[in-house]
Amino acid sequence: ASIAVDLTAATDISDELYGLFYEDINHAADGGLYAELVQNRSFEYGPADLGGYHALTAWAASGVTAATADPLNDRNAVYVTAAPGATLVNSGYNTGMAFTARDDYDLSFWARGEAEIQVVLTDASGAAIADAVTVPIDSPDEWTKYEAELEASAATTTGRLALTTTGAVDLDMVSLFPEETFKRRENGLREDLAKLIDDLDPSFLRFPGGCIVNTGSFDPDSRERAYNWKDTVGPVEERLTNQNFWGYNQSYGLGYFEYFQFAEDIGAEPLPVVPVGTTGCGDSPEITDPEELDRWVQDTLDLIEFANGSTRTEWGALRAAMGHPRPFGLEKIGLGNEEYKDQFYVNFPAFKDAIREAHPDIEIIGNSGVDDAGAVFDRSWEFMREQEVDAVDEHYYNSPEWFLANNDRYDSYDRSGPHVFVGEYASRSNTWWSALSEASYLTGLERNGDVVDMASYAPLLSNIDYVDWAPDMIWFDNHQTVKSASYEVQHLFANHTGDQVLASTLDAAPLEPEDIAGGIGLATWNTAAVYDDAKVTAADGTVLFEDDFATGSDGWTVTGPGGTPRGTWEAADGAYRQTAIVEDARSTAGAADWSNYTYEVKATK
Ligand code: AHR
Repeated sequence: ASIAVDLTAATDISDELYGLFYEDINHAADGGLYAELVQNRSFEYGPADLGGYHALTAWAASGVTAATADPLNDRNAVYVTAAPGATLVNSGYNTGMAFTARDDYDLSFWARGEAEIQVVLTDASGAAIADAVTVPIDSPDEWTKYEAELEASAATTTGRLALTTTGAVDLDMVSLFPEETFKRRENGLREDLAKLIDDLDPSFLRFPGGCIVNTGSFDPDSRERAYNWKDTVGPVEERLTNQNFWGYNQSYGLGYFEYFQFAEDIGAEPLPVVPVGTTGCGDSPEITDPEELDRWVQDTLDLIEFANGSTRTEWGALRAAMGHPRPFGLEKIGLGNEEYKDQFYVNFPAFKDAIREAHPDIEIIGNSGVDDAGAVFDRSWEFMREQEVDAVDEHYYNSPEWFLANNDRYDSYDRSGPHVFVGEYASRSNTWWSALSEASYLTGLERNGDVVDMASYAPLLSNIDYVDWAPDMIWFDNHQTVKSASYEVQHLFANHTGDQVLASTLDAAPLEPEDIAGGIGLATWNTAAVYDDAKVTAADGTVLFEDDFATGSDGWTVTGPGGTPRGTWEAADGAYRQTAIVEDARSTAGAADWSNYTYEVKATK
């Protein structure tokens, strides 16, 4: 094989190509990057967040009842009222709170009453691992904030925060942070996770989603709201919590101020995405009322003021009050996440025109819906060209084979229209094989630096005990982090980016996928009823394909021993399904249960 390089034909690689997409999915914020150790600190959990959730979820309590009369404030409606001798023990996330010996922990809570509250750190057995601290409460009528510091005397990963009261007292916003947060920020971020993210040397940080941007109601009084940045700023005890699209309660303690600050701390350009009033993720309400639309357009303009405005403006003043008088230097904004339904085409111009008029220097990023091909995609792109946006956000989650086969995707893209922002992509599965296919694909993005400006792998974070979506780039529990192979690829490319790609040709017989990964594998069917989620892995662990709701089998044929066909793969409603069940399946779960089937197959193409 030989490679011919043309030293006279060079394309500049975008100097902002490698960035990050952060979404509050998989408990990425609460129980993740946000360093708060107490789960359900404001007692706002309820069944609307998740079946079985209630005001005392994550708390073991005696002598305590939830109350709503005369609360801490209107946005923090629930608190607890504790009788003399009551105890409250919070168990955090995963197996509990992770404490490190000799580290300090900052406790705070709001209280109303007259009592002494004894606070201590314990392990899961209740054994104290800190000297108890007694906090005198002397505010019979007024909610007052109390603070104390606790030093752990031993390490544990099953930690608890325990409070005992001597008198009747109301309590809310019971919070515990490690003193050592990333860059020592107050209300800060978990240091180990933030450092891993920082190490990726990202050029931008796209946030806060994803589907959470625009799913739920656009009504500010709803319990299940689309993401409104205004809910997430100001004092933490005045932030509304929300039901998350991914099925849990969001405290919004990690909110827009913290995202902007984090972007600044890691040297990344902030790139917020706001809803345009429709969704690509399921069927949520849409904004059709002109007054409601105006309100959301104004909220978007206010966001730009919050980020960049003078401290004499209303929202610039709030930024300053939160500790950042200097502007955050917002230069780009994303309008819509995977929004492609008819109402999107009605709503989008209102946002775009208002921003262009008030802030002509801000770059606008539109989106191309959920498909990466077909009528929806073409319509979106045509509309984005008409709207003269600066870039279009494309999303795709495909098999490793797709990434290998589509290295040339952008070679033929129109150079005269909007540029491309690959806002979300991942090769399905967290294997070395998918990471390699991503690496290969990134060479195609670099080669097309004249039209592909930015790209971000998705999702970034997942807590192993609260998985909504996989694969993910960084996995973690309450005290450990694991970098996926995809993380290593991102790290390699982002930290060693070239300036230019020289045109080259390769003279060699191309490898067929089966040369690389074919052979006997194990198939597992893990979902009862629909038989999706099939996965075929070769003996060396390489995933030959995964059949899930998005990828399909990509042309692989599955045969059992003796070459007997073991199923057909077909597309139904745009999704692939396994339609036949093998007779000789070795069920690990019993004949009547179609879950967890594993059997030997040969996968060929
Ligand atoms: O990254 C996970 C989800 O995939 C995002 O929320 C959404 O934008 C996409 O469909």
